[in-house]
Amino acid sequence: MSKYISLKMINFWLLVMLSLQLACVAAEENWLDLDYATKGNLSESDWPGVCNTGHKQSPIELNEAYATHGPTKLHILNDTVEQPHLALLYNGYVVILHNFTHSIRLSGGMQFRELVYVAEQIHFHCGAEHVLENVRHDMEVQIVFRLESAASLKAALNQEKGLVMVSVVFEVTNVPSRAIAAIVDTLRGQPLVNESTWKINEMNSIFLMRELYGDIGAYYQYRGSLTVPGCVENVEWLVKAKVQTLTRQQMDTLCHVGGASSLARTHTSYRELQDSNTRQVFYFTESSANNIRVCWISVGFICVFLNGVNIF
Ligand SMILES: *[C@@H]1O[C@H](CO)[C@@H](O)[C@H](O)[C@H]1NC(C)=O
Ligand SMILES: *[C@@H]1O[C@H](CO)[C@@H](O)[C@H](O)[C@H]1NC(C)=O
Ligand SMILES: *[C@@H]1O[C@H](CO)[C@@H](O)[C@H](O)[C@H]1NC(C)=O
Ligand SMILES: *[C@@H]1O[C@H](CO)[C@@H](O)[C@H](O)[C@H]1NC(C)=O
Repeated sequence: MSKYISLKMINFWLLVMLSLQLACVAAEENWLDLDYATKGNLSESDWPGVCNTGHKQSPIELNEAYATHGPTKLHILNDTVEQPHLALLYNGYVVILHNFTHSIRLSGGMQFRELVYVAEQIHFHCGAEHVLENVRHDMEVQIVFRLESAASLKAALNQEKGLVMVSVVFEVTNVPSRAIAAIVDTLRGQPLVNESTWKINEMNSIFLMRELYGDIGAYYQYRGSLTVPGCVENVEWLVKAKVQTLTRQQMDTLCHVGGASSLARTHTSYRELQDSNTRQVFYFTESSANNIRVCWISVGFICVFLNGVNIF
């Protein structure tokens, strides 16, 4: 009898170990997918990791008046190149675009002047995460870049300065987004609305990353975290200051993909605002090389004006 039970137990543990191993392989391939699928519907106060204990969490509110101004030095290369093997997936929480064959590289930002990053994936939050000048806009598109020298996205997660997020906030108007049109065309051509998760390995239209943001122009930059569990705090956020536009129809297609049961969740797939905890927020523009204003957001905010000094 006891022999029988212990054999059964061994089989059980073999099975557990095997499935853990499989889970690890899946995580390696697409960690964000796994995080959302397993934790996407936990309430935020139950999120694990440093989500509720960290001091550099994202998103935060961004205001030009409270930010340290400086000149932009950002470069994004290869963002007008057509990507032949782009794939889309939905994990029950957000739509993710991934599999860039031609490296899209980012360099030249303030905190990582010497470092180079490559784009790994783009995902879409319904309801913008970053609040700009007191307004929460309709959507936020986040481009995840990993440190090029890190072996994978998973490896970059555990590395200091491992991740850069380039974020573009959208509002609904009559003017469509060309980049989002390419995704919406693909979604419309696929029978998927009854599934809470799905994968599409072929795009119907050409998606060019540059068309998401046009020119980056002015942007906010600050050190923060992932906005999903476990909220690791090694993310340099670059948030384009100018809000882009999409149509109501584009927004609805992207935000209703999960069908009726997930509609409520996909309509509000943003994390609540986090404390800024006296973090410095930068505002970089092409025209601010000479008059530099250095600010810290604390209880109110403190600014020091430096005329004609170039500290960058
Ligand atoms: C998420 O929600 C589904 C459906 O309500 C439920 O079955 C599942 O257990 C939930 N998962 C978690 C991690 O809360
Ligand atoms: C652009 O993409 C091509 C093709 O994949 C690649 O060879 C090249 O290194 C990329 N250029 C940059 C600057 O990343
Ligand atoms: C959606 O799919 C589930 C299982 O895959 C099925 O039980 C359900 O009837 C389907 N709903 C509709 C509206 O087709
Ligand atoms: C990703 O791209 C490669 C070629 O670069 C292709 O072989 C692979 O099938 C693509 N993966 C997906 C999920 O589409």
